[in-house]
Amino acid sequence: MASTYDWEWFMQQFGIMSKIDLTAYKRPQMERRINSFMRSHGAEGYHSFISMLQTDQTLYRKFIEHLTINVSEFFRNQAHWEVLENQVIPELLSDRSTLKIWSAGCSTGEEPYSLAMLMKERFQSRSDKILATDIDQDVLDKASQAIYTEKAVSTLPPYYARKYLVREGEYYRLSDDIKQMVTFKQHDLLKDPYPRYNDLILCRNVVIYFTEETKCRLYQNFADALRPGGVLFIGSTEQIFQARELGLKSIATFFYQKL
Ligand SMILES: C[S@@+](CC[C@H](N)C(=O)[O-])C[C@H]1O[C@@H](n2cnc3c(N)ncnc32)[C@H](O)[C@@H]1O
Repeated sequence: MASTYDWEWFMQQFGIMSKIDLTAYKRPQMERRINSFMRSHGAEGYHSFISMLQTDQTLYRKFIEHLTINVSEFFRNQAHWEVLENQVIPELLSDRSTLKIWSAGCSTGEEPYSLAMLMKERFQSRSDKILATDIDQDVLDKASQAIYTEKAVSTLPPYYARKYLVREGEYYRLSDDIKQMVTFKQHDLLKDPYPRYNDLILCRNVVIYFTEETKCRLYQNFADALRPGGVLFIGSTEQIFQARELGLKSIATFFYQKL
């Protein structure tokens, strides 16, 4: 571990350069990731690494990608999507014609596109355009292209794959009708205002990288961003311990409803 002084200097310099607030993320995990990246790119210390990032745009973008951990999957943790499909969305639609949906920390698009396919197939597309946001512009660019490898599409249920994928050489492109259901936008959960009156928010496998204090602040922001009765869907290793204080109640494992 670097000295606290060096680490703080690095976070400050990097914050000025990128506007990413590293103090909100868990230090040991972040430091490990940053150090491994520095080692593999021949940086000897934080000072030389900052200079390298300032002068090499390609390295800078690669570093942001490395830092933000972009792993995603279509219908990640399928059993939870079944609860979404069979319980949560039917209940949400019981008293309104369309849903306002936000996928926060959407990475390369697998999550919002899974939602788009589900809404189209099972709920006659009864949603506004799905808003999908991430801090990392590179993953958003990839998400907008909607081109995936064979491995990436392997978790799509076969029916969806047959219907919504177009093969292009060794890649697969999602059909335009699904792409059109999603709007991608850059958004930093730590500092940008949250869209309001959402019926459904997905924020999965994003807050795991934040400190407990930051996590709590973000859950409060999500609770405020839901309309009463709206639902927050979180990741399979996550739990909101202070749900009641935030005005949320658990309606199924990984699903919290605003009171
Ligand atoms: C592991 S991916 C999760 C993708 C998807 N939600 C899923 O569960 O498959 C985490 C995403 O969170 C994004 N992220 C990290 N910090 C963020 C922040 N402060 N604001 C918005 N997105 C952030 C990363 O860029 C990354 O794409």
